[in-house]
Amino acid sequence: MTDHPDLQGLPLERKAALLSGQDFWSTPPVEEVGLPSVVLTDGPHGVRRQEGDLGTLGITRNLPATCFPPAVAVGNSWDPSVAERTGAAIGREARALGVHVVLGPGVNIKRSPLGGRNFEYYSEDPLLSGVLGAAHVRGQQAQGAGASVKHFAANNQETERMRISAEVDERTLREIYLPAFERVVTEAAPATVMCAYNKVNGVYASQNRWLLTEVLREQWGFAGVVVSDWGAVDDRAAALAAGLDLQMPGDSGAGNRRVVEAVRAGELDPALVDTSAARVAALARYAGEPADGFDADAHHALARELAAQCAVLLRNERGTLPLAPGTRVAVVGEFARTPRFQGGGSSNVNATRVEAALDAVRALAGGDVPFAAGFPVDGPGPEDRDAAALRDEAVALARAAEVAVVFVGLGDAEESEGFDRTTIDLPAPQVEVVRAVAAAAPRTVVVLSHGGVVSLEGWHDDVDAVLDGALLGQAGGGALADLLYGVANPSGRLAETVPVRPADSPSSLSFPGEQGRVVYGEGVLVGYRGLLTQGRPARYPFGHGLSYTTFATSDLRVEVTGDDTASVSVTVANTGDRAGAHVVQVYVSTAAGPVRRPLRELRAFTKVALGPGESRQVTLDLGRRAFAYWDVVESGWVVAPGEYAVQVCADAETVLLEQTVALAGDDLVPVLTMDSSVAEWFTHPAAGPALAEALTASLPADAASPGDQAMVLQMIGSMPMRRFATDFGAALPADLLDRLVAETAAARTAH
Ligand code: BGC
Repeated sequence: MTDHPDLQGLPLERKAALLSGQDFWSTPPVEEVGLPSVVLTDGPHGVRRQEGDLGTLGITRNLPATCFPPAVAVGNSWDPSVAERTGAAIGREARALGVHVVLGPGVNIKRSPLGGRNFEYYSEDPLLSGVLGAAHVRGQQAQGAGASVKHFAANNQETERMRISAEVDERTLREIYLPAFERVVTEAAPATVMCAYNKVNGVYASQNRWLLTEVLREQWGFAGVVVSDWGAVDDRAAALAAGLDLQMPGDSGAGNRRVVEAVRAGELDPALVDTSAARVAALARYAGEPADGFDADAHHALARELAAQCAVLLRNERGTLPLAPGTRVAVVGEFARTPRFQGGGSSNVNATRVEAALDAVRALAGGDVPFAAGFPVDGPGPEDRDAAALRDEAVALARAAEVAVVFVGLGDAEESEGFDRTTIDLPAPQVEVVRAVAAAAPRTVVVLSHGGVVSLEGWHDDVDAVLDGALLGQAGGGALADLLYGVANPSGRLAETVPVRPADSPSSLSFPGEQGRVVYGEGVLVGYRGLLTQGRPARYPFGHGLSYTTFATSDLRVEVTGDDTASVSVTVANTGDRAGAHVVQVYVSTAAGPVRRPLRELRAFTKVALGPGESRQVTLDLGRRAFAYWDVVESGWVVAPGEYAVQVCADAETVLLEQTVALAGDDLVPVLTMDSSVAEWFTHPAAGPALAEALTASLPADAASPGDQAMVLQMIGSMPMRRFATDFGAALPADLLDRLVAETAAARTAH
């Protein structure tokens, strides 16, 4: 990028001033060139426009805005239009509230079910996270509000988040932790990317040149602003050199003075200041005039409609749901009256209103709906007697009802930005109420509200139905009632595995790390990838979700469309008697290539809405990346020649249809060096035969039989050729080896 025309001629100090905030939430104006100040604020599932200038301390004093379903719920929608419409509505509210860049979406991978901020992220899968994140950004920016995809990168825990080093090998970064960012950047061009607090392989993300410049800008072509997470800058000059443009919040100019000094001392290239200042100045294109308010009623209605598309029906025995109007229902659980609908921390929105499920159920029930709180929220009450009394009251109501609907979940104190969880269990008093109610009521439905995954063990089999709302935003109560009564049909699918035990999660042995480091030892085997590969069943697998109607999937046809691409078509039919939506999930499974592959990986998906009896053929393309792995030797994506099973699944554990195709893949001639192993030399397609011929020719006629030779070769196969040739391989002339090294290298260059 060249010097921004507006900034030309400004003194160094004035340009450097643009490199940090003037306060907690805005960039400084540069009056002499007519540059306005730009306001950046949270995000991601609603606008959090803080009143006054109290920084972090003012976190709870925010202007009212619509609290849309947080990312945990949008992840479960598996529907980019839900993300896009959320982004668009947030964009409209931002314009009305004088905000130019809204800090979201968060696309970090849920590495562990214990992650304290999992409610703010979409999924354990990078494809799902990336597709939804890109849709959110598109929606928001189309309304004129810039986005900030965050937290780049490997910010997968809250414990020690400001100094922990995430130790992740490159294949794992490329295949799991970076692709969602890559998709958002390459498909949706967000105004900004927010760097994470943590270190990545020993270097703060804020001063990690590989991440911020080589990968983000040079490889993905990012042209916007890299902004620090709030307080993530350690060494301002090093951060600028690494590619961090804007430091937030402002530190009263200390960082900028350091930059100026470093330039004056010849330690920092002044062009870096020009480039970053120009990028920050270019954010002014979002600083239009504020819009005239927003339609709070319409946005609340939208929040309700979207929330209904995010809830997941986990279990529905004996057709317990939907409830028929007129059913004698008892509602139990404080969360029905006092909804838990968003997570704590910087994303906490001051909702314009909050709809309680209890009121919405009463409105739809067509009769009296008795209610009992059932348990104290946020842990046991002051006395055990309280919990027991509350439970007894709930049981009495349940006994008199036809169906008891129990709202349980996690309270605000149990999860938030800033700390990780130590358990996935529901608080014990809630489990006791569920079990007691289930024993008393003819039918029991459990409704879950939580940001991170909760365990269903100890009570799951006692209840007839489980409706998982996760966190549904301010209109979630209405959406839950719509789903319970069949006004809406559940269509969500789990974006995160519900494990039997948290210890089953592949990251459990090394989460959240120790002594400053967290080693991502499970590599690419994160979430369902690891559970499936290890043959560990989940309580509910990634991708699971039921509907009030039924679907049939048939006629799978996979067509190879190139050396490394394919097209998948399948017919989906709604075989039930009400309208609903089905998620077609396409996974790829292969053992091709030299690296360990997860048992299967999600590679394409689409949500299809169908009326009763309706059917439709859907076609999904599988591009090169659907088959590729990151090859650390090649330093790039490789599609190995071989067989690939394309599987249409009901969820990550359940294959419905499968077809195997052979792909030509990449024609990579391995390069040989003297450090390549004897086996690599002898099996090399070009060099191997020449070598074998030379060896045989040099051996006396009564030398070992071919069988013995093969055995010897197996024994010494892993020996580097350098050692074999010097110590044992006088039979292999040095000039032949030199020639073959040169030839394989030349063949590779010509490729
Ligand atoms: C969070 C960011 C947030 C920022 C500003 C940080 O603590 O990690 O996600 O955007 O604060 O509130």
